Amino acid sequence: MAENILDSFRLIGKKAIVVGGAGDLGKAMVEAISQAGAQTVVIDFDDRVFDICDNFKKDGLNVSPIKADVSKIEQIQESYKTSLDILGGTVDILINSAGIQRRYPSEDFPEEEWSRVIAVNLDATFYYCKYAGNTMLKNGGGKIINIASIMSVLGGITIPAYAASKGGVGQLTKALSNDWAARGICVNAIAPGYMDTQLNTALINDKKRTDEVFMRVPMKRWGNGEDLKGLAVFLSSSASDYITGTIIPVDGGYLAR
Ligand SMILES: NC(=O)c1ccc[n+]([C@@H]2O[C@H](COP(=O)([O-])OP(=O)(O)OC[C@H]3O[C@@H](n4cnc5c(N)ncnc54)[C@H](O)[C@@H]3O)[C@@H](O)[C@H]2O)c1
Repeated sequence: MAENILDSFRLIGKKAIVVGGAGDLGKAMVEAISQAGAQTVVIDFDDRVFDICDNFKKDGLNVSPIKADVSKIEQIQESYKTSLDILGGTVDILINSAGIQRRYPSEDFPEEEWSRVIAVNLDATFYYCKYAGNTMLKNGGGKIINIASIMSVLGGITIPAYAASKGGVGQLTKALSNDWAARGICVNAIAPGYMDTQLNTALINDKKRTDEVFMRVPMKRWGNGEDLKGLAVFLSSSASDYITGTIIPVDGGYLAR
């Protein structure tokens, strides 16, 4: 008999790394895949990563924190190495959720801010994919989930670096999927819409822009971490084994409008 469909969503025995896992969306995905059974390393440069992991441990989840600044290649390499030590030398699931936003009129966009956004949102995503990809290729496969954005396909307003970086994350997801699909690695992206997280504090506090956004969100509410949990588990699990190279929106219907 075929495997019970619910069993194909379980992640028992799987080893995971979530980069940016102390963020509002990352934290929810850490909780979801850990509840589904994965042992999870959480990488973030914010000290909150330690409290978050302590609290999840109290709930019986197998999570370990690593503090690292992913805009620095040495810290990416070191954190990846430490992750593998914690996980026993292997990784089955990588989620890239570290991200930053900077808002300036394009003509005034500071060069150092451009570089920082590209470094965190795009460069670090590629480097963790490269390192985890090497381990997964040796071990017969794995699942990579990059956090893109509706700004992977839209341009936004006053966010040229963010839109360029997230467009890049979408293209990177497809490129890596092509290179690795026949060798057991599925590479997909989740594209959140307008989510109520600290990344959007400036937007949430701007009543005029919030009204403009909601005019176009068919579900008429902000999304949140809970909205990503099901898809994160699905894309991490064998239930999605024939899905790769996709960018799946979780946006309350925004892109269909
Ligand atoms: N909030 C939204 O509306 C929205 C929409 C689409 C996509 N996204 C993407 O979702 C992901 C998660 O965003 P979020 O909304 O949870 O924001 P968030 O600010 O709550 O989380 C981002 C996390 O990345 C971490 N981070 C930032 N710079 C880092 C660095 N240099 N080194 C290590 N960690 C670093 C932060 O500490 C934070 O924990 C991001 O990639 C973001 O671009 C968010």
